[in-house]
Amino acid sequence: MPFGLVSAWSKRRRSKSQDHTDPWIYKPLEIWQLEDQATRPTKRQHGSSVYTLKEMEEATGSFSENNLLGKGGFGRVYRGTLRSGEVVAIKKMDLPAIKEAEGEREFRVEVDILSRLDHPNLVSLIGYCADGKHRFLVYEYMHNGNLQDHLNGIGQRKMDWPQRLKVALGAARGLAYLHSSSAVGIPIVHRDFKSTNVLLNANLEAKISDFGLAKLMPEGQETHVTARVLGTFGYFDPEYTSTGKLTLQSDVYAFGVVLLELLTGRRAVDLNQGPNDQNLVLQVRNILNDRKRLRKVIDPEMARNSYTIESIAMFANLASRCIRVDSSERPSMAECVKELQVIIYTNSKGLAMVMHSLRMI
Ligand SMILES: Nc1ncnc2c1ncn2[C@@H]1O[C@H](COP(=O)(O)OP(=O)(O)OP(=O)(O)O)[C@@H](O)[C@H]1O
Ligand SMILES: [Mg+2]
Repeated sequence: MPFGLVSAWSKRRRSKSQDHTDPWIYKPLEIWQLEDQATRPTKRQHGSSVYTLKEMEEATGSFSENNLLGKGGFGRVYRGTLRSGEVVAIKKMDLPAIKEAEGEREFRVEVDILSRLDHPNLVSLIGYCADGKHRFLVYEYMHNGNLQDHLNGIGQRKMDWPQRLKVALGAARGLAYLHSSSAVGIPIVHRDFKSTNVLLNANLEAKISDFGLAKLMPEGQETHVTARVLGTFGYFDPEYTSTGKLTLQSDVYAFGVVLLELLTGRRAVDLNQGPNDQNLVLQVRNILNDRKRLRKVIDPEMARNSYTIESIAMFANLASRCIRVDSSERPSMAECVKELQVIIYTNSKGLAMVMHSLRMI
């Protein structure tokens, strides 16, 4: 997303009485205005390669616009080819000079966490470059870009329902892995889960990217975060933004928003719409358990013969529980994984029955 759209709710050092931010109102806040906790200096990473600035320049044709994949809150992402011939994605941390210290901390968090994580539904960190004031992250290249572009891109063939269900399940598995203590011994909250951070490989398998915002969380405890508050408008857990309490369930809320994007093909936030229609959650949350009205919000570009209404209703019901305002009423990511498996089964069985009855006619 464009730099200017990175938003956050600043509640640092506010008293409780001041902490009444309305989670539905868009409030841009520059990323560099936010505080961060000092992180431990990064140790030499196992398994991740270290590159020089020269190698980064060579790989990207001196950061040529032709190789630009996109731009987010931390800088630009380029397609690159390493000396080994491997094609990668290179995230260039584009920091204003006075903010380089914060950028470096962010960088270290991401490198430190990512290098310890290993799951088929997480984008792998291949290496990094910390050359002078320059900071880069080198990721595995995801041929099909981000999920949001796939759902909203012009002219692309839109994903059918089984593909969307597969993406939802992959993303759920990635988040469940982060949330399980087995990842690095304690649960990790992503904190910026959204459809541009769900990347798709050549087989349209989903992998989650951008763990720079993740914080390690002691098991069984809620972390009262007083440091930086980050995320993206449209995906914020309303409970988190009003109480400042960060739980794993904040990711579940954001996951629910991505489920809604998969279902409707709409953006989580569309600033081109009027004030009442900008936020996808507000648009659809009252109809998710009403089958009749639900039909009207199914992505019209999705092949009709790829879904059963039964599976759509189950999916919408799961999404409605993920986006509940009370975080304790949301399912866990492990539960989401199980439900999505049942939904995939229900859809394929339902479609097979339709095919069977058509053959009988
Ligand atoms: N590993 C990758 N492979 C292929 N494309 C990528 C990769 N990483 C990022 N991109 C592309 O670059 C774009 C910009 O990524 P970036 O993470 O900087 O921004 P963002 O996800 O929109 O916002 P944020 O900074 O909040 O994560 C992505 O939307 C995606 O299309
Ligand atoms: Mg991103």
